Amino acid sequence: MYLQIDGIEKSFTSRERGTFKVLDNINLDVNKGDFLSVVGPSGCGKSTLLYLIAGLDKADKGEILVDGKPVKGPGPERVVVFQEAGLFPWLTVLENVTYGLKLKGMSKADADQKAMETLKLVHLSKYVHSYPHQLSGGMKQRVSIARALVMEPDILLMDEPFAALDEQTRMVLHKELLEIWKKLKITIVFITHNIREAVLLSSKIVVFATRPGKIKATFSAKSTKDGVTPDDITLHLEQQILAALQDEIEKVLKEEMGDDYSFETNRIHRDTSGDMGSGI
Ligand SMILES: Nc1ncnc2c1ncn2[C@@H]1O[C@H](COP(=O)(O)OP(=O)(O)O)[C@@H](O)[C@H]1O
Ligand SMILES: [Mg+2]
Repeated sequence: MYLQIDGIEKSFTSRERGTFKVLDNINLDVNKGDFLSVVGPSGCGKSTLLYLIAGLDKADKGEILVDGKPVKGPGPERVVVFQEAGLFPWLTVLENVTYGLKLKGMSKADADQKAMETLKLVHLSKYVHSYPHQLSGGMKQRVSIARALVMEPDILLMDEPFAALDEQTRMVLHKELLEIWKKLKITIVFITHNIREAVLLSSKIVVFATRPGKIKATFSAKSTKDGVTPDDITLHLEQQILAALQDEIEKVLKEEMGDDYSFETNRIHRDTSGDMGSGI
């Protein structure tokens, strides 16, 4: 197994909530080259799990192994792409992408060449000398993906990377990300609250239950990746994922809106499963 998440538990403490468990006994195996999506209601611990894999935080219990080696901290083989592109505004696109390479001691000429190749992959060759404020949201996120890929990670960790983009831009980036995934054969762990996005992109989908975060269901979406996918297969998978999520969404909504909220009368329909907004 390539990425192994083994009995992970994590609690946080806050003044309002005291100590509360966010992740409870998470076990997950990811094969090399998998595109895993994690879907779950907001606050269920998706980002927390991603940060643990990235080595940006430590679990209370359990272990995360990459290629058999325990994760002890951040490493160059695991790179994160966040929802906000987080580019340095005073650096050009090229300088943003070469930044990490230069920190590693690579010469400017080599770093520039490597960055140019990566920027070509995300179709930004024409904008290498632009500054972030001159770019659209989709272009900024492409720079952020290039900045991650240029480090040649084995695992790309993506935390709702397209959530802030408009629908058309998101569709284009879906296509590009799938092309990159196939070309580079990297392993991707992709966090989203968008069921349709998960079905479109992933080879494997994990649905999280909330409070504390636990794995509720696992789906293989491999059949949707082998060429053209008939709509009914995609829709069927979306339905199944939504069914697994429904109780969890209700839990969150009840907590936010009080017990008088009726999930029966406010049932979420299939049409909205593509993007249920920040509620899930
Ligand atoms: N550093 C922290 N300290 C205290 N609480 C935290 C911290 N990080 C996250 N949380 C809480 O843990 C829960 C899970 O957070 P998160 O992993 O960000 O959820 P998700 O990404 O699924 O929306 C939330 O209730 C959040 O408020
Ligand atoms: Mg999150």
